[in-house]
This record gives sequence, C-alpha cells and structure tokens, in this order.
Amino acid sequence: MDVWLWRLILLSLVGILFCPKHCVSQKDTGRKYTFMQNATSAANISYYDYIIIGGGTAGCPLAATLSQNYSVLVLERGGSPYGNPNITNLSAFGVPLSDTSPSSPAQRFVSEDGVINSRARVLGGGSCLNAGFYTRASPHYIGEAGWDGRLVNESYKWVERVVAFKPPMRQWQSAVRDGLMEIGILPYNGFTYDHVYGTKVGGTIFDQNGHRHTAADLLEYANTNKITILLHATVHRILFTTKKVADGVIFMDAHGLEHRAYLKQGSRNEIIVSAGALGSPQLLMLSGIGAENDLRKHNINVVLDQPLVGQGMSDNPMNAVFVPSPAPVEVSLIQVVGITNFGSYIEAASGENFGGGSTPRDFGMFSPKIGQFSKLPPKQRTPEALAKAIERMESLEQEAFKGGFILEKIMGPISTGHLELQNTDPNENPLVTFNYFKDPRDLERCIQGISTIEKIIDSKAFSPFKYNNMPVSMLLNMTANSPVNLLPKHTNTSLSLEQFCRDTVMTIWHYHGGCQVGRVVNSDYKVLGVDALRVIDGSTFNYSPGTNPQATLMMLGRYMGVKILRERLAAKETK
Ligand SMILES: Cc1cc2nc3c(=O)[nH]c(=O)nc-3n(C[C@H](O)[C@H](O)[C@H](O)COP(=O)(O)OP(=O)(O)OC[C@H]3O[C@@H](n4cnc5c(N)ncnc54)[C@H](O)[C@@H]3O)c2cc1C
Ligand SMILES: *[C@@H]1O[C@H](CO)[C@@H](O)[C@H](O)[C@H]1NC(C)=O
Ligand SMILES: *[C@@H]1O[C@H](CO)[C@@H](O)[C@H](O)[C@H]1NC(C)=O
Ligand SMILES: *[C@@H]1O[C@H](CO)[C@@H](O)[C@H](O)[C@H]1NC(C)=O
Ligand SMILES: *[C@@H]1O[C@H](CO)[C@@H](O)[C@H](O)[C@H]1NC(C)=O
Ligand SMILES: *[C@@H]1O[C@H](CO)[C@@H](O)[C@H](O)[C@H]1NC(C)=O
Ligand SMILES: *[C@@H]1O[C@H](CO)[C@@H](O)[C@H](O)[C@H]1NC(C)=O
Ligand SMILES: *[C@@H]1O[C@H](CO)[C@@H](O)[C@H](O)[C@H]1NC(C)=O
Ligand SMILES: *[C@@H]1O[C@H](CO)[C@@H](O)[C@H](O)[C@H]1NC(C)=O
Repeated sequence: MDVWLWRLILLSLVGILFCPKHCVSQKDTGRKYTFMQNATSAANISYYDYIIIGGGTAGCPLAATLSQNYSVLVLERGGSPYGNPNITNLSAFGVPLSDTSPSSPAQRFVSEDGVINSRARVLGGGSCLNAGFYTRASPHYIGEAGWDGRLVNESYKWVERVVAFKPPMRQWQSAVRDGLMEIGILPYNGFTYDHVYGTKVGGTIFDQNGHRHTAADLLEYANTNKITILLHATVHRILFTTKKVADGVIFMDAHGLEHRAYLKQGSRNEIIVSAGALGSPQLLMLSGIGAENDLRKHNINVVLDQPLVGQGMSDNPMNAVFVPSPAPVEVSLIQVVGITNFGSYIEAASGENFGGGSTPRDFGMFSPKIGQFSKLPPKQRTPEALAKAIERMESLEQEAFKGGFILEKIMGPISTGHLELQNTDPNENPLVTFNYFKDPRDLERCIQGISTIEKIIDSKAFSPFKYNNMPVSMLLNMTANSPVNLLPKHTNTSLSLEQFCRDTVMTIWHYHGGCQVGRVVNSDYKVLGVDALRVIDGSTFNYSPGTNPQATLMMLGRYMGVKILRERLAAKETK
C-alpha cells in the first residue's frame, strides 16, 4: 500500500485514540453538555436507576461509567465550570477561593481548630479549585484498601487519557527538584504518576496552555441517552422506606422550589452519595443516619442510630516557608514532589502573580485572600486579623512578592477529629474539628519536613533563588508586613520547630473521613444498616492517598462504577 495512505490511517488512528484529550483542549470554553440543565427546569418528580448526589471529583467519573447501561441522575448544588476563566485559567487559582459570596464555586469554612479552609460548590467539585497536582496512590495504599490492583490501574488510565498532563518544568521548579536530589531525597524517578520514594515530577490537570481539565471533563465518556445532570440542585434529604431502603431524594432548585427524584423499581438500583468529606456525613445526618442524641437535638427523624457518621475527620497539616528570590521566578503551582521515608512530602509553588484578581501582587496558594494565614496561630486568625493582613499586604513593595514557597505536608495524618451538625440547612457548613498534631507522630513528621526544607534552601541548586548576602535586617524590612513566614528563627532547637509547626499550620485541602470504610460503609462502599445506599468519595478514606488525593478520587469513581456494572451483569447471568 502507498506510504501516504498508511500515514493517513495512522494519523486518524492517533486522532481517535487521543481524541478526548485532544478535543477538550481545542474547545473547552463555554462547552456545555446536552444532558446538563438547571434544576429549575426539572420535573417535579422523576425516576432513575441511579441517583448520584454531588457531581464532584468522584461523582462525575462514577456517573459517566454507570450511564453506560443504566439511567443516571446527578444532582449538583453548584453551577457549570465551563466558560468560566476563574476556574479554567491556572493564573486565576486564587479567584474562586477568595470569593466568599454564596454564588462562588468555593464555599469557605473555618474548622473549630481555627484553620481557614474551603470546599467545592461546582460541577467537577474540588478538581475545579485545586492546584492541579496529579499523582497516584502507592501500591501499599491500594493493597490496604483491598482494591483490585488491575482494575485500579485500568481506572487510573481511563482518567489520565482525559485529564492528566506533563507539566512544563521551568527554572524555579527545576531548582527545587535539583535541591531535593542534592540533599538526598533519592532516587530521581523522573516524570511519573507513580508513588515512589525519592524525587519526581508529577502530573497535572493543567495542559500546556495553563487550561484546567476537571473531573467534569470525564463526563465526555457518558452515555448521552442515559445521563441527566441537574445544576443548582441542592439535596436536602435522602428518603427511606419503612424497611430502611433508600428510595428517593428531596432537592431544591435555585428558585427554592422542591423536587423529588425516586429510584425506579429494580432490586439493584441505588442512591450514591458523593458529596465530599463535609457534605456526605452532613447529608447522612440530615437524612436520619447518625448519633441518635445529636439527631434528636435537631428534630431529625432517626432512621438509624449510627454514632460513627462524622467520626474520623482528618486534614493533613501543611506548613510552608516563603523564600524571597533576587531572580525572577515563573508562575507555578505544584509540579515536583519529594517523597521522603519519614512520612513527609515536600512540594512547592512560585510566582508573584498567581493570585489572580485585579492585583497581581499576591501570594497565590498562600495568600490571606484565599484564607491562608500562617502568620498568626490558628485560634487568632479572626476575620479582623485576616482583613488587616490583606490590607498590609497591599502596601508591601513589589520585591516582597518575588519568590516562592516550599511546603511540607505529612502523610496520614494519624490525628483525627469529628464533624457535627450546626443546623439543618444543607447549604450551611457543619462544625468540624481536625485536631492537627494531636498525635506526636504527626508533629515529628512536620519537624523533619521543615528541617528538610531548610536544607533545600541551602542547597547549591537553589542558590540562584535566594538572597545570599542580604543582611537579615534588610530581608525583614522587605517582608515586615508580610502575611507569610520566612524560615523559623531558631531552627536549631526542635522545640522551636515544634512551635513553628503548630503556629503556622495551614490546610492543603486534603481533608477526608466522616463515612469511613469499616465504620460507616463496608468495603463495597455500601452504608451499613440500610439498603440501596452507598457513599463514594473522600469521606470514606482513613488516610489521604498518594501525596495528593485527586487522582485516586477520580480513579475510585471509575473503579466503583465498573465494579457495580460487573456485579449487575454477573447477577443477570446467573439468573
Ligand atoms: C484549593 C484546593 C487545592 C487542592 N490541591 C490539590 C492538588 O493539587 N492535587 C490533588 O490531588 N488534590 C488537591 N486538592 C484536593 C482534592 O481536590 C479533593 O480532595 C477532591 O477534589 C475531593 O473530591 P470528592 O469527590 O471527595 O469531593 P468534591 O470534589 O468536593 O465533590 C463533592 C461535590 O458534592 C457537591 N455537594 C455537596 N453537598 C451537596 C448537596 N447537599 N447536594 C448536591 N450537591 C452537593 C459539591 O458541590 C461538590 O461538587 C485540593 C483541594 C482544594 C480545595
Ligand atoms: C412540586 O410539588 C410540590 C407538592 O405539590 C410543591 O410543593 C412543589 O413546589 C412543586 N415543585 C415545583 C418545582 O413545582
Ligand atoms: C450492558 O447492556 C447490554 C445490553 O443489555 C449488555 O449486553 C451488556 O452486557 C451490559 N454491560 C454491562 C457492563 O452491564
Ligand atoms: C470571576 O470571579 C470574579 C470575582 O469573584 C467575579 O466577579 C466574576 O463574576 C467571576 N466570573 C465568572 C464567569 O463567574
Ligand atoms: C488567564 O489569566 C492570565 C493572568 O491573570 C490573563 O493574562 C489571561 O488573559 C487569562 N486568560 C483567560 C482566558 O482568561
Ligand atoms: C499497577 O501499575 C503500577 C505502576 O503504575 C505497577 O507497579 C503495579 O504492579 C500495577 N499493578 C497491577 C496489579 O498490575
Ligand atoms: C442556571 O441557574 C443559575 C442560578 O440561578 C443562573 O445563574 C444561570 O444563569 C442559569 N443558567 C441557565 C443556562 O439558565
Ligand atoms: C528598614 O526600614 C526603616 C524604615 O523604613 C529604615 O529606616 C531602615 O534603614 C531600613 N533598614 C534596612 C536595613 O534597610
Ligand atoms: C542555636 O543556635 C544559636 C546561634 O547559632 C547558638 O548560640 C545556640 O547554642 C544553638 N542552640 C542549640 C541547642 O544548638
């Protein structure tokens, strides 16, 4: 055959194989799925095989997969991420997070610990707000979870074909990578999604043009004839039959009108909660599954006395050091990670101009505008103190923003807290306590992480990006009103590092728990004590997977979708 004909065939094959990713990056602004609509235009009552509550990081791949053979309704309280540059644009990272209005795609909350935090309110969930780092869980984690390793790998690949990219490695991120290697975080594993000890470049959901590809993009895989997505649809309650079988939900549209959706007759149809680590335990409680005494306090009818709902809440503490740079640095979110053998992960972000908004002079991932405020201990981070920090930041000289942050996040964590209802409004945040560093092993990991950061800053590879001979007084002058932390002052005593860890703790937004496997759900993610109800999202985790969780959350949505389809098929065949 003609060589050119072969080339043509090959090219079109490549086109087909890589179409999802290719097509998405071509035309991702303003795109709408035909099966997506506002809840205001939904029927008063409707029927489906599956009702998924929350179109987030795990919910979207789950819905796309189940729609292959069954009718699926997704109820998402937020709007669409498409056509919104605040979400799509890497440089706009801080914009949704600093918008605290009720229409923001990010809903701010403050834990009882005093750390300011945020949760998603948009189709695609946390993957629309996050720093984009994409990296898998370790084989050890997958083994502990009891997952089927082969299906896990297939599911990761299914996700990666659409949303994962190789980041551009520019000067500052490269210096962090080389610094990590120089101080012995080895071997160097190059660019990989795998979780392996040493230093690596991980994946990102931002493409080469800085455009974000979220879990909502996985809906490209959906069967358009069988899926319905309702936006601005807030679920208030799951309904149960007298035999404790979940059979419907009540949700409200943007006009405050009530709708109901029910499961079609069919013994294996189910309601699946994917409302995230705060939303899922909250919704179970609002639906009557929780500690009986607590539910009665709020006049909620008790379906099942289950005191473990809302227990085991954790947030991995993050501590970071700002390194002012004499040389210009690129705008970057997380690209490199050092996976140490003492349970601390080292990552970094840079650039003076990545907070988005009207002013480029900002600290991006570490800006008080988005609620990151490490200059004061958690309990002192009042709204007034935060406002003052933002104001002072605006009077800083330009030089004070030039540089980047090196952060450490600890694995696990071991410390846990709990969540309880504040009231019965699903739009409001529940009360949550994480108990950062309650377990001394968590604190030890932080101390070792900060010591490692100090070594990176002193490495030869990093030297172009720190002021070498600047007197401390000048450096302090430059950053006097800065809301971010430079290196701790008495770094040689572990006591001061201990205090530094406690006082400067922030969130990396990897909070999880509340509906944990073995406590609230079984290993098939079915809610114990009731029927036809599962929870599939970060609320089921005992520990945060990988160095960063989103890859595994998307994988889990796909993985459980495939497992459910296979189980139903097997049940049909044995009939
Ligand atoms: C700022 C930020 C930065 C992060 N950086 C990274 C990173 O770089 N890499 C990484 O791997 N991870 C990162 N994460 C963490 C990661 O994004 C989250 O862990 C993950 O998105 C959580 O997925 P989920 O499916 O459990 O919940 P979500 O994605 O939050 O999904 C829950 C969905 O349920 C909806 N919902 C809730 N209640 C209701 C209700 N009553 N009715 C209807 N809908 C409801 C919500 O609107 C939401 O869309 C970051 C997170 C944030 C916020
Ligand atoms: C659906 O019907 C109920 C009961 O009649 C009513 O209260 C509710 O407002 C209706 N919802 C809409 C969207 O019309
Ligand atoms: C989906 O449905 C088709 C047609 O009913 C059937 O042949 C196929 O086996 C089903 N697949 C799964 C995974 O359930
Ligand atoms: C982007 O964010 C800004 C600031 O919060 C807001 O005013 C604007 O409406 C947002 N744009 C979109 C498309 O939502
Ligand atoms: C993305 O953000 C950058 C920096 O704020 C800006 O220059 C660019 O125009 C934005 N792109 C879009 C599509 O909004
Ligand atoms: C899954 O992939 C990883 C590499 O990404 C590999 O180490 C592991 O052995 C694979 N597991 C299975 C069961 O194939
Ligand atoms: C959907 O509803 C939201 C909230 O009321 C509104 O902002 C948006 O414009 C609506 N979109 C469409 C397509 O009607
Ligand atoms: C620090 O700032 C003060 C007040 O602006 C100034 O007087 C002093 O000289 C500065 N010190 C250094 C080392 O730059
Ligand atoms: C800490 O460092 C200071 C100054 O470098 C030194 O005087 C002090 O002895 C050190 N303390 C310890 C416990 O090493």
